[in-house]
Amino acid sequence: MIELQQVSKTYLIGETPLRALREVDLVAQEGEYISVMGPSGSGKSTLLNMIGLLDRPDSGSYLLDGSHTERLPEEQRARLRGEQIGFIFQSFHLVNRLTTLENVELPMMLAGVSVRERRTAAQEVLAQVGLEAWSGHHPNQLSGGQLQRVAIARAIVMKPRILLADEPTGNLDQASGREIIAVLENLNAEGITLLVVTHDLNLGQRARRQIHMVDGRIETDISAEAGAGAKYVPG
Ligand SMILES: Nc1ncnc2c1ncn2[C@@H]1O[C@H](COP(=O)(O)OP(=O)(O)O)[C@@H](O)[C@H]1O
Ligand SMILES: [Mg+2]
Repeated sequence: MIELQQVSKTYLIGETPLRALREVDLVAQEGEYISVMGPSGSGKSTLLNMIGLLDRPDSGSYLLDGSHTERLPEEQRARLRGEQIGFIFQSFHLVNRLTTLENVELPMMLAGVSVRERRTAAQEVLAQVGLEAWSGHHPNQLSGGQLQRVAIARAIVMKPRILLADEPTGNLDQASGREIIAVLENLNAEGITLLVVTHDLNLGQRARRQIHMVDGRIETDISAEAGAGAKYVPG
């Protein structure tokens, strides 16, 4: 469903070209669980943003379900993104003055979903991440792990097929990080395609398929069977 062909991306820092992605090829099938590891600056976030249609290749192609996306007008890319892709970031990107429930409703509000429908859907996904009792709270009343679970609920409320997580446990203590991994892996078990960028080897090595990036390239892309995909026991 995801196919990158010879994707390159160069940023200009002043006059100096910085090659964030160099001719990257990547094919990912529906339902895969992929971790992306590698040193800081190796292009992990750029790769994720490319897949999430937040960034466009300078050259090369990105096909989603067999259709080219790289030359689509921004409007269509935004629509595809809204329908197909959920994002989770290291810093949770929640709106402080909104309640938990309202934060989760936000993508549906932007998509014009009716109040009643979005309330129901938001409550459903909050229950799915174990936060049904926290719907009226504001972000400043929640722990880091809870905030990330709200962010996950918001990311999945539009029922995306692809979930992209950029260092989702980067701001969390170990126990909360494990909870978040368990939530993400449960979503993958239910069929969502999961790509997780991480510095955390313990997390990265859990994925069935592990990509290592170095200097804008995919250095290794390994699908492991043994040991991967085991249930994480939170706590
Ligand atoms: N918006 C941007 N403008 C300029 N340079 C960028 C931008 N985004 C990323 N880069 C550069 O591209 C390289 C890859 O960045 P990134 O994908 O964020 O790496 P990683 O996530 O692996 O740390 C880095 O050298 C970074 O400084
Ligand atoms: Mg990054």
